[in-house]
Amino acid sequence: MKNILLYPLTTSAAFISHGSLDVQTYKNRQINMADKHLDTALVTAGRSKKYTLGAVNSVIQRASSLVFDTVDAKKQATRNRAKGELFYGRRGTLTHFSLQEAMCELEGGAGCALFPCGAAAVANAILAFVEQGDEVLMTNTAYEPSQDFCTKMLARLGVSTCWFDPLIGADIAQLVKPNTKVVFLESPGSITMEVHDVPAIVQAVRRVAPEAIIMIDNTWAAGILFKALEFDIDISIQAATKYLIGHSDGMIGTAVANARCWDRLRENAYLMGQMVDADTAYMTSRGLRTLGLRLRQHHESSLKIAEWLSKHPQVERVNHPALAGSKGHEYWKRDFTGSSGLFSFVLKKRLTDAELSTYLDPFELFSMAFSWGGYESLILANQPEQIAHMRPGGEIDFSGTLVRVHIGLENVDDLIADLAAGFSRIV
Ligand SMILES: Cc1ncc(COP(=O)(O)O)c(C=O)c1O
Repeated sequence: MKNILLYPLTTSAAFISHGSLDVQTYKNRQINMADKHLDTALVTAGRSKKYTLGAVNSVIQRASSLVFDTVDAKKQATRNRAKGELFYGRRGTLTHFSLQEAMCELEGGAGCALFPCGAAAVANAILAFVEQGDEVLMTNTAYEPSQDFCTKMLARLGVSTCWFDPLIGADIAQLVKPNTKVVFLESPGSITMEVHDVPAIVQAVRRVAPEAIIMIDNTWAAGILFKALEFDIDISIQAATKYLIGHSDGMIGTAVANARCWDRLRENAYLMGQMVDADTAYMTSRGLRTLGLRLRQHHESSLKIAEWLSKHPQVERVNHPALAGSKGHEYWKRDFTGSSGLFSFVLKKRLTDAELSTYLDPFELFSMAFSWGGYESLILANQPEQIAHMRPGGEIDFSGTLVRVHIGLENVDDLIADLAAGFSRIV
């Protein structure tokens, strides 16, 4: 299948109506993933007979103890315990191995560590590569608990954190010090959605600190709309709680590492007792099978709503990576193959507390909740000073209330009608 440019026209046609999207990029980058189209890889990855035992899906092997028939079998399992051989529950079972293999195929890694949630994946990935006296260089638009892990936990261990602006590009070289061991990216940025110029950042870091480990929180892109390891990033982390699980009913974190980082990440995760239960691993694999289809709908609906919002008289600005004018849009267009469903917009007005309730409480289709990436639409509001509080060393450039939405799989016109009703409550 190598190098065949084929993508069903019926699906790509949906994107053509959106002027700000580079359709060609989307089509091109969907091919040639481990010699398969992405949609095919999502369906087949991790489903070899050794994991499915003849069924369609992988088995759910719940186990703490794995039983050895002979002394030799135990020796052999011990030798290969880190190489996908059944050894002990904490090292994983067939269900975990199936998911890990699928993630490596999809993200192009040497190995994938599984964690009980996304926050654990972030914390453990960083912790694996730092020691007392080191520094972490982190975007100041990282998910707030990732920042807090650095300022509250790493600080206690004698590891400092330096912050960078998400649009810093090659100037990041000026912030790299001899003790910078981890460079942590998140693109788009949490809530305000800035997209990094990843090639510029990676090149600059590699030039001045070739030993530094570069990792990214790649949750928004579900690990596939932005192929982090192809951009020479060492570790791609996901709160697989979001799009991989896809139904808001489980929590899991994944960290796919390249060959230079895999052994250390794996052993650190093992020593920290990090694993997820077999049922959640199974649900994550199941989520992969529909991920391509779901993402295309999130992409199409979120962009339609973003464009509608950008023309709305009560809206100051729309932060959607796929929309021209959004910060870092040109990098999204160059480096990503599509968009997911999470973005934000800024109202012209700063809502009072009473207006916040009037605006948010009556939504019919948009629920208020933190975790996103499921099939349902969500809405949350932040005041500018709350965002400023999450931007260490940075500034914000808006004064109205910021609204973050996750566009789910409901009919897009119904969602627009719900949003329109919301605006009429705060004129
Ligand atoms: C970008 C990002 N990274 C990490 C996390 C943490 O994931 P989890 O809730 O699975 O711990 C979240 C959760 O909202 C997130 O939005």
